[in-house]
Amino acid sequence: QARVGWERFQEIIADDKRIEPRDWMPDDYRKTLVRQVSQHAHSEIIGMQPEGNWISRAPSLKRKSVLMAKVQDEAGHGLYLYSAAETLGTSRDETYEQLYTGKAKYSSIFNYPARTWADVGAVGWLVDGAAITNQVPLCRASYGPYGRAMVRVCKEESFHQRQGWEILYTLSHGTQAQKQMAQDAVDRFYGPALQMFGPPDAESPNSQQSMAWNIKRFSNDVLRQRFVDMIVPQAEALGLTLPDPDLKWNEERGHYDYGELDWDEFFSVVKGDGPLNHQRLAHYRAARDNGAWVREAAAAYADKQAAAQQD
Ligand code: 3HC
Repeated sequence: QARVGWERFQEIIADDKRIEPRDWMPDDYRKTLVRQVSQHAHSEIIGMQPEGNWISRAPSLKRKSVLMAKVQDEAGHGLYLYSAAETLGTSRDETYEQLYTGKAKYSSIFNYPARTWADVGAVGWLVDGAAITNQVPLCRASYGPYGRAMVRVCKEESFHQRQGWEILYTLSHGTQAQKQMAQDAVDRFYGPALQMFGPPDAESPNSQQSMAWNIKRFSNDVLRQRFVDMIVPQAEALGLTLPDPDLKWNEERGHYDYGELDWDEFFSVVKGDGPLNHQRLAHYRAARDNGAWVREAAAAYADKQAAAQQD
């Protein structure tokens, strides 16, 4: 049965079709999807914190309502992705527990502080911009529920990127102090945003298998390059500079060359020693602990409803 399953699986992948929850799949395929989809979901949930801190400090009612909508979207992205992980046989509680106990990874970028209002713009423009560059190919991931979740996520991400751009554009065309605040935010978020695409291909243990199974469509460095090529002209339009003296158009390659990133910092952030790893996890744990009564009340209500139906 496993042999037949394996052949069928290989055929589906070779035909670039979808694997659905009820299809036979190799254990390692299931495992790498649970790994990536759950980390993706955790990233969305932890990613609510940097901007969430600014909802009550937004400079206008319009900015406040736009930011609230964006942060709510991220919660929804987390839920789509936890649901996609559940179709692989991993319970929601188990996945939450992995984040709660600090065992689970989530995107390194969210361990950096959002110090000023301009950071909210830089997060939207750079972090959500990188997320879109990474997530558009994931719409074609071979695992059905993951690819389909990405379609909805990408539609909302483009709004996230636009609102971030607009914040930076307003500031970079405002007072000298506002322009400086925008430049400072871009200076701090540029490097970590490029590292959202993962380590260099030569140090990416999952890429080869993930690409062979049509989960990852392009390598970490290919998508990182695509992102750099996209933001250079956008930074010019913003009237801001990117903090990379090696950034230069390379006619031969048809891409921008860019400088070496700090991979020691990256791996230490991934390991848990970034600027805010502990605070992000403590905040998540407190939110889950403080929200326990809501979950218990909802479960008690559901049990009562179910019992009433039986009578
Ligand atoms: N932060 C934390 N860990 C990272 C990382 C990052 N930026 N990049 C890579 N890693 C981890 C990987 O998870 C892997 O560890 P593991 O084997 O324990 O899972 C290790 O470093 C080696 O990396 P690989 O390149 O071998 O791993 P992948 O093939 O999984 O590629 C990835 C990494 C490109 C991030 C891929 O997992 C992916 O595409 N994930 C889905 C996209 C995602 O998670 N985006 C996060 C942002 S969500 C977001 O931005 C919300 C937005 O709306 C604000």
